[in-house]
Amino acid sequence: MTMTVAALLPSSSYAEFALPGCPKPANEPEMRDCRPPASPHKVVRFQGDASTFLRVRKSVFELTPYEVDQLRRAFGELRRLSVEDPTDPRGWQLQANVHCWNCAGAAPPEGAGIDVHGHYWFLPWHRAYLYFFEKILGELIDEPDFALPYWDWDTKGRRRLPSAYIAPDNVDINPLFDATRRGGDACLPLERIGPKPMEKLMFDTTDWRAFMGGEAPSVPAGPVDPTQQGIAGLLEFTVHNSVHGWVPAPGPRPAPGQPRRCGRPNMGIFSISAQDPIFFAHHANVDRLWETWWRAGGEQRLPPDERWRKQTFRFYDERANLVEISVDQVIDTAGWLGYGYRPPSPAGDEDTCPAQMAGAMALTVPATTPVAPLVTGETHVLTFEPHTLVPPVLEFPNVGFLGPGPASLAQPTPRVHIDGVSLRPGETATVRVLIGDPNNPTDESYFTVIPHHSHHTPTQNIAIPLTLQAQQLLQPVVASGFAGGAMMAQGLQVTLVPVPPDDEPQAFIGLAGFGAYAVAAAEAPVVAYGNVYITR
Ligand code: C2O
Repeated sequence: MTMTVAALLPSSSYAEFALPGCPKPANEPEMRDCRPPASPHKVVRFQGDASTFLRVRKSVFELTPYEVDQLRRAFGELRRLSVEDPTDPRGWQLQANVHCWNCAGAAPPEGAGIDVHGHYWFLPWHRAYLYFFEKILGELIDEPDFALPYWDWDTKGRRRLPSAYIAPDNVDINPLFDATRRGGDACLPLERIGPKPMEKLMFDTTDWRAFMGGEAPSVPAGPVDPTQQGIAGLLEFTVHNSVHGWVPAPGPRPAPGQPRRCGRPNMGIFSISAQDPIFFAHHANVDRLWETWWRAGGEQRLPPDERWRKQTFRFYDERANLVEISVDQVIDTAGWLGYGYRPPSPAGDEDTCPAQMAGAMALTVPATTPVAPLVTGETHVLTFEPHTLVPPVLEFPNVGFLGPGPASLAQPTPRVHIDGVSLRPGETATVRVLIGDPNNPTDESYFTVIPHHSHHTPTQNIAIPLTLQAQQLLQPVVASGFAGGAMMAQGLQVTLVPVPPDDEPQAFIGLAGFGAYAVAAAEAPVVAYGNVYITR
C-alpha cells in the first residue's frame, strides 16, 4: 500500500468535549510572567567551559554525606537569591521560568516563547539548560567543581524518590524538598522504567529519529504552529514524560463530569516542573541516557543535518551574562561543557518495592474487534476501552513530510506512527501500545503526554520503532486457499490501551463497584488521535 502522508495529517480537535478545564495551580506563572528578563548587555557567544577539572555527575543514591550537604546548600542559595533579588536571572524562580518559557509554544493566548518538547531539539536544549544551571549552583556556593546528581530510576532498587529530596520534609531545612510530591513509599511502576522498556529504548532503538525525536518544522525559530508538530522521540514520550507525571502526589478524585486526568503540580505540568529540584536530577538521568546511547553507536546516532547543529539557544550563565550556545557545542560534554557521568554501580540497590499491584499497566486486554485501517484523517476518541487497529503500511520513500535534505532520507527503523495525539487542555494520559496479538503481544511500548501549561496540552505525534520480531510480522505471506499461492501482506495489529491514573488502578476492572463515578470514568475520553500507520 503506497500513499503520501501529507494527505493524512490529522485535524484533531476536542471542541466536542467542552467540559470545565483543569484547575490552574497557584504557582503557575502566566505566560508573560515567565518571559526571561531583558539583559543590560549584549548577548555573548558561548566559548566552551573554562574549568580545569571535569565535573563528575554521580547517582544521587551514591552521594557522600558531604555531597548531599553541598547539594542542599546550593539549592538553599538558589532559593535565597530568588527572595533577596527577584530580578537576578540566576535565582530559583527565574531559573524555573526558563523552562516555563520554553514550553510555551502555541499556548494561547500569549503564544510566544518556543516549545523545546516533541522533536529533535528536546535533548540538546535540556542539556544546555542543565549545564548553565549546574554552573550557577557551583558559583552560588563557590565550588566550581559542583556537579548535579542524577536520579537513575532505571537502576535496580532506585525507583523511589531519592531520600535526600524527601527527608527532612521541610523546605526551610531541606531546600531539595517539594511539598507537591508523592510520599517516599511509592515506587515507579516497572512497566514504565523497568528492564523491558529500557531495553527497547537503549538497545533495540538504533536510529536517532526514533530515540531523540524527528525534525520540527517550525521550531524554535518563531512561534510554534500547532499543526506542524514534529515527532517526539522514545526517550521523551516514554520514561521522561512518565516520571514527570508520576512524581506529583495524586490529587483528590474529581466529581463526575469534572476533568479527571489533569496534570498535577509541580512535575506533572511542564511550565512549573522546574520549580521542583527533582526536575534537575531527573533530567540529568535523561541526559545520561542520551550520552550512553549515542556513545554506544557513534556519529550516525546524531541528526546529520546542519539545521539541527546550527540551532542556538540563550541562557544566563553563572555571572548573569546572557549567552548564546549552539547545538554543536553541546554534543561533546567533556570537551565543551566540562562534565561527565560516573555510571551507577552495576549491582544497584536492593529492590524494596512491593510486588506490582494488579491493574494499571498489568491490565489484560479484553478482546476487541479490529477496526478498519485508519487512513481517513479523522479524529478517533479513546475512552476506557482499548482500540485494536490494523494500520496501513507506507513504504518509506513516500513518507513526504520528514524534511528536506539527503540526510533525512536515510532509511529509518520501521515504526508505528500515531499522529495527532491530543488531550483536552491541561490533561495528561498514558496509553499502552501493544503490537501483534493483543493478548500475547510481540512487542509493546507506551506513551505519556504531559500538559505544557495547566490550560494547554499539545498535539503530539508518536512513532514507536518496531523490534525485529514485530518487523517480521510485516513480511508478505503466502495466503493458503488461493490458487497459485497469492502473495498478500499480513496486517499487523496495533492495540491502544488507556492506562488508568495511578490512584485508581482498579477503575477498569470492577466498574460496577464504582457507581456514578465509574460511569463517568468509563465514558470520559482519555485521548484523541488521528492517523495510525506503519512506515518501513
Ligand atoms: Cu522540558 Cu522534562 O521537560
